[in-house]
Amino acid sequence: MLVTSLRFACLALVLSMPATVRAQSVERGQYLFQVSGGCSCHTDVKNQGALMAGGRALATPFGTFYSPNVTPDRDTGLGTWAQDDFVRAMRDGEAPDGRHLFPAFPFASFTGMTDPDLADLWAYLRTIPAIAAPNRDHELDAPFGWRFLLPLWTSLYLEQGPLIDDPERSASWNRGRYLVEALAHCGECHTPRDLLGGMDRDRWLAGTADGPEGGSVPNITPDPETGIGAWSDDAIRRVLRSGMLPDGDFVGGAMAEAGESFRHLTDADLDAIVTYLRGVPAIVNQVTTTKPAASSSAWE
Ligand code: HEC
Repeated sequence: MLVTSLRFACLALVLSMPATVRAQSVERGQYLFQVSGGCSCHTDVKNQGALMAGGRALATPFGTFYSPNVTPDRDTGLGTWAQDDFVRAMRDGEAPDGRHLFPAFPFASFTGMTDPDLADLWAYLRTIPAIAAPNRDHELDAPFGWRFLLPLWTSLYLEQGPLIDDPERSASWNRGRYLVEALAHCGECHTPRDLLGGMDRDRWLAGTADGPEGGSVPNITPDPETGIGAWSDDAIRRVLRSGMLPDGDFVGGAMAEAGESFRHLTDADLDAIVTYLRGVPAIVNQVTTTKPAASSSAWE
């Protein structure tokens, strides 16, 4: 009797395992999705677009990009993609048909993500409702509209991942670097770009007057005058968790949108980001602010 029920118990365990493993992968993927900034470029919030159905206009100095549909719809989204196709897009900036993707899609950061994280993020994206919404062509100024230049761009700027932990540094610093450089791609907005639109890594996180959608992005290096060197750890944690700045105002623009997602950061991940930000080289760069309209409230 005992043996039989044990056997049933084992069988039940084995049968239920793939589903459990999948569920855990989706759950982890949802956290990665949130911390990555909610892939918010792919939702046209302004026009009440469906989650991840694309069509959002992204104004850049090179023209206007329209984000593609990344829901599991077979005809207009990523429904026919395999996990490997997704990994290739995120790590190499290449679509399954060999097309090179424009770096407005921050693959130069996502390339640093680990294989297990990419697998979990993919598992989560597969659970989003499929929406039929055809993609819209980008409206780019030559020569940036010339897709054939993209392999050159990639060869100049892509440092292919995944990021490898630095054994000389603490686990928290390594986690923080992973979040800032890869997953949450803070550098894509906070680092100035050069003429070809690549991140200027010598001025990592030093801010720019010429950020996404023409807005300015502050210097978040530890320089006490022009960066956030004078901020307390709590102040940095607070702006990421709730959007509240030390002067009681709230961040607006692109940061408010990314922050909708950063509020999900676990305490350990917040601490890791603070640890990492404290350790990047301090760069003196006074950014002229074109302050975006502050959101009226905290994210929570
Ligand atoms: C989509 C672009 C974008 C991303 C991604 C982004 N930021 Fe920001 N961030 C901004 C903008 C724009 C502001 C300025 C908002 C304002 O002034 O209201 C800002 C403001 C901040 C501030 C306040 C600094 C100050 O001096 O006021 C901090 C700190 C910050 N970001 C840290 C981060 C970190 C850490 C990450 C990654 C976890 C990150 N940001 C990701 C665009 C972004």
